[in-house]
Amino acid sequence: MTEFSSRVEAISISGIREVFEAAGEDAINLGLGQPDFPTPEHARRAAIEAIEAGDADAYTSNKGTSELREAIVAKHARDNDVSVDPENVVATAGGSEALHIALEAHVDAGEEVIFPDPGFVSYDALTRLAGGEPKPVPLREDLTLDPATVEAAITDETAAFVVNSPSNPTGAVASEADVRAFARIADEHDVLCLSDEVYERIVFDGEHHSPLRFAESDNVVVVNACSKSYSMTGWRLGWVTGSSERIERMLRVHQYAQACASAPSQYAAEAALTGPQEPVEEMRAAFERRRDVLLDGLEEIGLETATPQGAFYAMPRVPDGWVEEVIDRGVVVVPGEAFGENGAGHARISYAVDIETLKDALEIMSAAADAVR
Ligand SMILES: Cc1ncc(COP(=O)(O)O)c(C=O)c1O
Repeated sequence: MTEFSSRVEAISISGIREVFEAAGEDAINLGLGQPDFPTPEHARRAAIEAIEAGDADAYTSNKGTSELREAIVAKHARDNDVSVDPENVVATAGGSEALHIALEAHVDAGEEVIFPDPGFVSYDALTRLAGGEPKPVPLREDLTLDPATVEAAITDETAAFVVNSPSNPTGAVASEADVRAFARIADEHDVLCLSDEVYERIVFDGEHHSPLRFAESDNVVVVNACSKSYSMTGWRLGWVTGSSERIERMLRVHQYAQACASAPSQYAAEAALTGPQEPVEEMRAAFERRRDVLLDGLEEIGLETATPQGAFYAMPRVPDGWVEEVIDRGVVVVPGEAFGENGAGHARISYAVDIETLKDALEIMSAAADAVR
């Protein structure tokens, strides 16, 4: 029999799915990584109109329509104060494909990729698929990534380091000083900084900063998506931006693996990015109210939690057996170790649910804490 590749044998299906399967059908799901809001109406409309007009039937340019890429360029100018050439944007099948083509294009067999631990599950898996060596690094007490930790982990074999702010699974937001330091590290060590900014619009305290703004070299590649900002996870529309040389290499992978991002979704994304931004602010404000309810509740239960400043996750420290107890009682949370060794002793709680549901879940979490203490 044909053997499976060693690269694919080095990864497995995400542990998060197992947690969902373990929970009953009517469980309260605080395990989901997606907003619980509808996609903005104008984005849906744009896709419908493009389909009805017959504009979405064919392949687009490999990089995506020029109108979408112009919309992405305008977004980077508006939100990040960076000037991006529309030729240096590739629209992808979500942030996931953007991460994939970035790592495929930059990581050689045996080369190291540094990323936060706990961190988003794809960094480890996509590094392995590219034939690279995952180098997870621990976080500070407040669950932010310390540039000094990244710098100390860099070796001659390092191909890239990943920065993810706001972060999944911690909700931590990097300070401007840290983001400037990441840019400096990319410049000084001549190593790629892969900045995953998919949660950039969901920030409660402080501000989102992109290392792309501060780097003096072309060593920053940014991954972003409409998925979280516009509640468009099902549309599968993200993008990657970087220097023309890097884009040309990433495009080689994208061209053969994907050809182009889904055309109807490109129209929806263009409308989302250029249309009214109020739905984004409404979602952000709703997440902030829920974060506050969750933090108060966790404090009452006595679970120590670093204050998440963005995204829609909190990562409290939890006693042994608590995650299993909570799941048994009908609330899905994800054990911290699903996000790396250093996630052990924590749980990731997603608050992409309404406040009433969150309050019900907190009561169950409180009872579970009493049961295991
Ligand atoms: C940190 C992070 N990056 C990237 C992604 C991928 O997002 P997309 O749905 O756009 O592929 C996710 C999704 O959960 C994420 O949490």
